[in-house]
Amino acid sequence: MTRRTLAVVSAGLSQPSSTRLLADQLAAAARDELVRRGHQVELRTVELRDHAHDVVNNMLTGFPSAALREALDAVTGADGIVAVTPIFNASYNGLFKSFFDVVESGSLVDRPVLIAATGGTARHSLALEHALRPMFGYLRAVVVPTAVFAAPEDWSGGTADGALRGRIRRAGAELADQVERRPPSTGPADPFALTTDFAQLLGRRDS
Ligand SMILES: Cc1cc2nc3c(=O)[nH]c(=O)nc-3n(C[C@H](O)[C@H](O)[C@H](O)COP(=O)(O)O)c2cc1C
Repeated sequence: MTRRTLAVVSAGLSQPSSTRLLADQLAAAARDELVRRGHQVELRTVELRDHAHDVVNNMLTGFPSAALREALDAVTGADGIVAVTPIFNASYNGLFKSFFDVVESGSLVDRPVLIAATGGTARHSLALEHALRPMFGYLRAVVVPTAVFAAPEDWSGGTADGALRGRIRRAGAELADQVERRPPSTGPADPFALTTDFAQLLGRRDS
């Protein structure tokens, strides 16, 4: 048995938020699958609206606040990520993009990611394929094959309807597969870690 962490990133702006609801259900599906396979799972939820001002400040100053640092570490140190955005103007919303713009470059390489979105119309479901998947591809994360889109008609009384429930289960199992294939994360990368030999830093050639 190993201990795994899943970071759940939700960029919904409303309260309550259908994006957060979808994120929670996807995270629960992945967690249940990992638990069924004998792992212990910790979920770390990052509600981006709580960090909106700090994300902008980080873009302007180059430094995260303590709270944003914690959120970034939760994401970069997780074994797997559930990343969910509402669709705005046929793409991810600005908050979702800005958050991933301040994630340290290289920190999501080979990281399993499940992408999902909510929207006002199912006609925009392909934004997952033309916006989210390429962005995580650029970051060299490993995006699972099933991307989940939920339109208003996919919900009944606050829970996913039959077809959406099936997609959530399948995507959760795909994320669990990818997480299980990798050794447990050792946590976020230390930005101050020495990656160059000290003698090399001093310019010595005799070592
Ligand atoms: C500024 C804005 C732009 C939007 N653009 C789209 C859009 O292009 N396509 C779409 O399907 N829904 C669009 N929507 C609807 C939201 O995606 C939808 O209401 C979403 O589920 C809200 O998520 P939340 O409940 O987590 O806030 C837009 C909403 C806003 C506020």
